[in-house]
Amino acid sequence: MKAQAVLMTVLLLVSPALAAAESDGEMAAMLELADNSRCLICHDVDSNVTGPAWRDVAKRYRDGSDGRAIEEILVKRVYEGSSGNWGTETMSSNKRAGIDNIRVLVRWILTLR
Ligand code: HEC
Repeated sequence: MKAQAVLMTVLLLVSPALAAAESDGEMAAMLELADNSRCLICHDVDSNVTGPAWRDVAKRYRDGSDGRAIEEILVKRVYEGSSGNWGTETMSSNKRAGIDNIRVLVRWILTLR
């Protein structure tokens, strides 16, 4: 009985870690960068806010033929601002976030599953 209880406890502690497909460290670092870049005012990984959920963005472009091309298109749209691709809301320009940070974020967004 006792051994079983210990085993259950170990499984409960370990299974969420095993279930997490993405590395928590990377998720935390990217969310911090996104927060500092003011993206989280309008975005969330899982839910639609003003802008689309980033997992939905990844899903839409994941199967595109040329990953590199779509990355550049999205970097440009985020940098300059865009509208009409998801709905009626507009993404204002994010130039202040810096093109390098935007590229890092877009590359990560596209890896979300
Ligand atoms: C003012 C609100 C707002 C902010 C701030 C914002 N976004 Fe957006 N974002 C939107 C909206 C609205 C859309 C959908 C635009 C459209 O329909 O074309 C969008 C779309 C996107 C898309 C998909 C683009 C496409 O063409 O499919 C990506 C990727 C994205 N945002 C990333 C970011 C990142 C990274 C940041 C921070 C640097 C950011 N956004 C900041 C509102 C915002």
